[in-house]
Amino acid sequence: LGRQDLAGRKVLVTAGPTREPIDPVRFVSNPSSGKMGYAVARVAARRGAQVTLVSGPTALEDPSGVEVVRVETAEEMARAVESAQAEMDLFVGAAAVSDYRPAAPAAHKLKKKPGEETLVLARTPDILAGLGARHAGRPGAPVLVGFAAETEEVIARAREKLKGKRCDLVVANKVGAPGAGFGGDTNRVALVSAAELAEIEGTKDKVAEAILDWILPVLDARRPR
Ligand code: PMT
Repeated sequence: LGRQDLAGRKVLVTAGPTREPIDPVRFVSNPSSGKMGYAVARVAARRGAQVTLVSGPTALEDPSGVEVVRVETAEEMARAVESAQAEMDLFVGAAAVSDYRPAAPAAHKLKKKPGEETLVLARTPDILAGLGARHAGRPGAPVLVGFAAETEEVIARAREKLKGKRCDLVVANKVGAPGAGFGGDTNRVALVSAAELAEIEGTKDKVAEAILDWILPVLDARRPR
């Protein structure tokens, strides 16, 4: 069975992209495959946690022993997180949530017209920042972990997200670097917290193990059993 160091812990993970409809046959999205978040969910379940995975559209199978809630849009993901978050000990936001959605999706397929077309975008809710605003700094607050996908100034941007979204740890991906980021089976990340910086590379399962190893003492100190 391996170590069960997360036994009895409730873990909520988001994974994958979101899809924001333009019309019934088109959407705004990104290349997240879901692999990183599914690895976190799978490894946490293997280590004994009770895991809920809120997943955007992916081609992946449900990890065994994990409750999976499938969603499409950022707003649906926010609602699913809201209804799953009671009693959670740990939140890991690995999803690449669209920051914008088409402001007024068309009810019917848009017709081609000559010339340029303009798409008006509206902001989506920030799920992680919402959890940070609600929980951070309270005694016994759940541990909040975000990801950051950046192409430049990766550590500095991760530190900004750590503060801005009030989380305990940001896992910073340098997307575009070989063996890192969207789609593949491996990743190269920096674990960025208020006091520390650690670099990890390897399979997404190995990176998930390292993230959970970092979290464990923080969780046990925050919410002793
Ligand atoms: O899915 P894979 O193909 O395996 O790729 C993995 C990954 C690169 C998608 C993943 O490791 C990753 O970095 N995910 C976060 C990507 C991202 O959207 O980063 P961000 O900088 O936009 O968001 C920062 C954090 O806020 C993330 O934890 C994100 O889930 C969260 N967020 C962002 C926007 C929003 N509206 N709500 C959120 O909760």
